[in-house]
Amino acid sequence: MNQVIELVKTNEKKSKPSVGSLGFGKYFTDYMFVMDYTKDKGWHGPKITPYEPLVLEPSSMVFHYGQAIFEGLKAYKTKEGKVLLFRPDKNIRRLNLSCERISIPPLDEDVVLEAIKQLVDLEKDWIPDEEGTSLYIRPFIIATEPYLGVRPSEQYKLMVILSPVGSYYSGQLTPTKIYVEDKYVRAVPGGVGYVKTSGNYAASLKAQEEAEEQGYDQVLWLDAIEKKYIEEVGSMNIFFKVKGEVITPELNGSILGGITRDSVIQLLKHWGIPVREERISVEDVFNAYHNGELEEVFGAGTAAVISPVGELKWKDEHIIVNGNQIGDLSMRLYEAITNIQLGKEEDILNWTV
Ligand code: COI
Repeated sequence: MNQVIELVKTNEKKSKPSVGSLGFGKYFTDYMFVMDYTKDKGWHGPKITPYEPLVLEPSSMVFHYGQAIFEGLKAYKTKEGKVLLFRPDKNIRRLNLSCERISIPPLDEDVVLEAIKQLVDLEKDWIPDEEGTSLYIRPFIIATEPYLGVRPSEQYKLMVILSPVGSYYSGQLTPTKIYVEDKYVRAVPGGVGYVKTSGNYAASLKAQEEAEEQGYDQVLWLDAIEKKYIEEVGSMNIFFKVKGEVITPELNGSILGGITRDSVIQLLKHWGIPVREERISVEDVFNAYHNGELEEVFGAGTAAVISPVGELKWKDEHIIVNGNQIGDLSMRLYEAITNIQLGKEEDILNWTV
């Protein structure tokens, strides 16, 4: 890495929240990382500064045309006090993929990794070490040029902020109730569903809200054209265990290539459990249920790791998956991934840094 990261120190330190109050994404540490892009200098001036409000012009392009992307990854503290990042290279690769899709200039991936390492090292006292906790790392980029013409911004800000977190859902590993969404769609072919643009999440809120009003936790997203094939669940990838085999929707351009998704697939292969990435219709899933072949359904994402699905509603039909209990495979995956993340189990696939 050829850019030195400047450190602007502060003596004002916040008091750390109690573990019980953590929740997800409510508290932020004392420092953040910032780097700017301008057309003449490129990405420049990487620095770690006190976490503080930003000053932006109201005309900053991000407020008008939504050029914004983000990532999410976690740091863990091992029993021995060592700090581990889980597959950070994958997140940084995907950050650049998101940049490419919405015309943000690419970043030097080594600089971003070094920035994350230095920031997390400086803030390591903020990494909680109780079961189910971690330090969530949120890199993001916004378009900052003050201009209202519709074209790619010529100025950007990359920031990395850190948040000590507990589980994403209250009651981690409690099976969720899912509503199969057949009115709204998350992403379309040729769109931005395969990358982490902030707008994808804005577009998902209405369906989430309506599902909650009807007593569901999340929605199951279907393809935009036929409303037939399964894409994602909430903000996670989804897996089905049918007759001993695991199936997950193939990455088709509108599904996000989750890093937890990839980790699940690799672990299953490593364990010799058959896993297929292919198009799967909601009808196939309901038929498998009726034939007594649907064994487990679970979501996979960075925030929740593994989230079992206990109930699915599609049109007028409700089905209960695995007696609304967490399945053995979901549990095995959750434990294997979190044990590797926490350095409690041998890192057989070389994921931690
Ligand atoms: C994840 O599952 O990690 C997500 O992408 C959710 C995040 C937006 C909080």
